[in-house]
Amino acid sequence: MKQFIEKIIAENGFKAERLLTVLRAVQTEYYHIPNTAFDPICEQLKLPRSHIISVIEFYSFLHLNPRGRYDILFSDSITDQMLGKQNLIQYMADQLNLTIGEVRSDGLVSLDNTSCTGMCDQGPAALINGYALPCLTTERIDQIIKLIEQQIELSEWPAELFQVEDNIHKTGMLLDQTITPGEALNATFDRGLAETLSEMRHSKLRGRGGAGFDTSMKWQFCCNEIEQQRYVICNADEGEPGTFKDRVLLNSYADQVIEGMTVCAAIIGAKQGFIYLRAEYLHLHSALQTILDNRREKNLLGENICQQHIDFDIEICMGAGAYICGEESALIESPEGKRGIPRNRPPYPVTQGYKNKPTVVDNVETFMAAAKIAVIGGQAFAKTGTEKSTGTKLLSISGDCQTGIYEYPFGVTVQDILDDCQAENVLGVQIGGPSGSFISNQEFDRKIAFEDLATGGSFIVFNNSRNILDIVKNFTHFFAHESCGFCTPCRVGSSLLQKQLDKITDGHGSSGDVVELEQISQLLKNYSHCGLGQTAANPVLTTLQRYPELYQQQLKKISYEPGFDLDASLETARQMANRNDTNAHLTQVDQ
Ligand SMILES: Cc1cc2nc3c(=O)[nH]c(=O)nc-3n(C[C@H](O)[C@H](O)[C@H](O)COP(=O)(O)O)c2cc1C
Ligand code: SF4
Repeated sequence: MKQFIEKIIAENGFKAERLLTVLRAVQTEYYHIPNTAFDPICEQLKLPRSHIISVIEFYSFLHLNPRGRYDILFSDSITDQMLGKQNLIQYMADQLNLTIGEVRSDGLVSLDNTSCTGMCDQGPAALINGYALPCLTTERIDQIIKLIEQQIELSEWPAELFQVEDNIHKTGMLLDQTITPGEALNATFDRGLAETLSEMRHSKLRGRGGAGFDTSMKWQFCCNEIEQQRYVICNADEGEPGTFKDRVLLNSYADQVIEGMTVCAAIIGAKQGFIYLRAEYLHLHSALQTILDNRREKNLLGENICQQHIDFDIEICMGAGAYICGEESALIESPEGKRGIPRNRPPYPVTQGYKNKPTVVDNVETFMAAAKIAVIGGQAFAKTGTEKSTGTKLLSISGDCQTGIYEYPFGVTVQDILDDCQAENVLGVQIGGPSGSFISNQEFDRKIAFEDLATGGSFIVFNNSRNILDIVKNFTHFFAHESCGFCTPCRVGSSLLQKQLDKITDGHGSSGDVVELEQISQLLKNYSHCGLGQTAANPVLTTLQRYPELYQQQLKKISYEPGFDLDASLETARQMANRNDTNAHLTQVDQ
């Protein structure tokens, strides 16, 4: 083992910031990080043991105790549940003769749940040793079990088990017309760097990761810094349940995304960039690496790009299972070899980001749009969309409809989208993932735009057969699981919220419990350190506003004191929930 670790560390240049890469390699080789691995890692990377243990404990896909040689994780997003995931995982556990959450006694296989794996268009889905297994059925599970019991290497499994589709149903300005490699860069150099930044300003492009910050302004802030060592990071963490459009962009449009990063690097003067790829997208890693290599060969990356005296290269940095690492300041900690704890802001990454140097962090789709703007110019881009939300938005549509990727000009109504994706008898739509808003069927004239419904791209459709409280429960459990634990209001509040909601939905709650549910929600919203905690109660608050009767129906049948007014008590909770603009999710808290 010592030799193995020394080799990995040498390949990573003995750099402490490569800790996550080293730990991922050890985990893959030994199915956990054994005790005996600590000494060589501490010695070679000059890190204390306590730091290494805290990092392992932070990331869901790193373990101090052995997992099975075949480690299976079922995606637990609400759409996987709607597609029968619970029965499938139980079926698999029964067939393998193990308990969910445990490793089988022979050490061959382990089975557990994990947060949404970004396959909501082709669920129920799972991961095996990190690789995606979409479209699961009992037949596929039988096939998988056979392969496991026969101890066949994953590389020899039938390819169709790992086949991930793009499922693009509607294309627009971005997906329609592909840019050839080098086209955006040549346009940028021909026009001039300052002039291209000007085009970005005219385009009024706003970040596609959810917060909607003005992209040209972010790049300009970075340019304004005196410090010359600067970085570009592509946020490909895509952990919001229901979102999978970045997966598709990196699968089929990666050249353009990388070109957008390179245009950004040229403008801000960065020499180094990262694609921070969520661990659940391991299946994309080697193809992305090949695209980077090809671009180096074509002089579109590396030294003297397009003979313009500009040097820039990109590294892929894999996550290890942590939704919070999508938050830009937490993300930056990860390639520094640390736990993904969100930083205090300000300072913002544009002034003190990676290694405390000026850093632009943008979403995958933002970089793709930037490459487009470099080619067609800002005015042409701004012709599409609305005054405050220019261009198009990629939506990841899942749930009770034709699931997949749909590209729309900003300003499209929810109803138009529902018509396109053939949704029928719709009860409501969750827009922007669990941290976004639940829109009832009375509000389908609302628009996808930063001035109305802002979204990073998740659009989950629920028909009349669905129970809203099941949805709220799934989202609330998700946040409790993903809370990074750094601040008390979120660490304790998200877990209290989950317990309180379970009490009510299990039929053990009183009206006082609903009021308390609302109070915990306010605590989370108002006192949490980062966007995760500040939005974790949105599912409760938005549904309490719209459907107070659903909570009422769950209350235990008790006789109240004479004079006690149950309806008035519930109305108090509803009004308290109403008092807050629950639409203020990522759009505000993340800026
Ligand atoms: C809890 C949390 C999770 C987030 N996850 C993502 C993510 O997966 N991808 C993303 O691009 N932005 C995510 N964001 C937003 C980022 O912090 C940041 O605003 C974004 O990457 C900036 O890029 P943009 O300006 O191109 O949108 C998240 C924010 C929060 C608070
Ligand atoms: S709000 Fe939650 S996720 Fe954010 S820092 Fe606090 S504990 Fe961590």
